[in-house]
Amino acid sequence: MDGPPRINIAVDGFSSCGKSTLAKQLAHQLGYTYIDSGAMYRAVALFVIENGLVHEGRLEREALLARLDDIRIHFEHDPDSGRSITLLNGRNVERQIRGMEVSRYVTLVSPVPEVRAKLVKLQQHMGEGRGVVMDGRDIGTVVFPDADVKLYMTARPEVRARRRFRELKARGVEVDYASVLENIERRDEDDTKRAADPLIKAPDAIEIDNSDLTEQEQFALAMEAVEKVLAGGVKRT
Ligand code: DC
Repeated sequence: MDGPPRINIAVDGFSSCGKSTLAKQLAHQLGYTYIDSGAMYRAVALFVIENGLVHEGRLEREALLARLDDIRIHFEHDPDSGRSITLLNGRNVERQIRGMEVSRYVTLVSPVPEVRAKLVKLQQHMGEGRGVVMDGRDIGTVVFPDADVKLYMTARPEVRARRRFRELKARGVEVDYASVLENIERRDEDDTKRAADPLIKAPDAIEIDNSDLTEQEQFALAMEAVEKVLAGGVKRT
């Protein structure tokens, strides 16, 4: 085989922890593919909204299960922005899945074991050729339990809320800090307490608390872990 071995890198952690920033930096540096697994859960939430599968705030679970095979999710590279875009049944839904409505509904679909099983299978398929950096909640534990590098990102809730608050303000969204913090704490609870594939640190994951780190310092720590694995030879199945 030509070139250095390619590995899979799992980046897990709480919401607004800077996972995607780090995962994209790593993918860029290594010439790997970045995959945002959260976008896939968001696409399922959009399908649910668009197909009227939520009634008075409750998911029509059986109806969703009956239509699971109708949900096809792909990623494509957008040459204009240089970014990856999410496609739901062939349609670019990148903008819609980042909106507030999807953010609210995604926690209805992400705990459903059948949804998770479908998406995990798809994610595993995407990682078969290696050279993937995937971020999410269960990547190092469920999707790629044999990932060569696993990073588990944390930061104090107040630090994450401040970052998210600034981000939203910069986008012109009217919010107050207290509700951003409350939303982050609620999502932490949802992520860690759900029965199916909750967010937990894999025993072999490296924890990076970036509360007091710059982006550069965090990237350097992650690259150090990657280079150590690449230098030591990569386990092959
Ligand atoms: O990372 P994000 O905020 O875009 O993720 C959207 C939602 O999907 C979030 O509520 C957690 C959930 N999720 C998940 O359950 N498992 C993953 N691997 C990724 C995201």
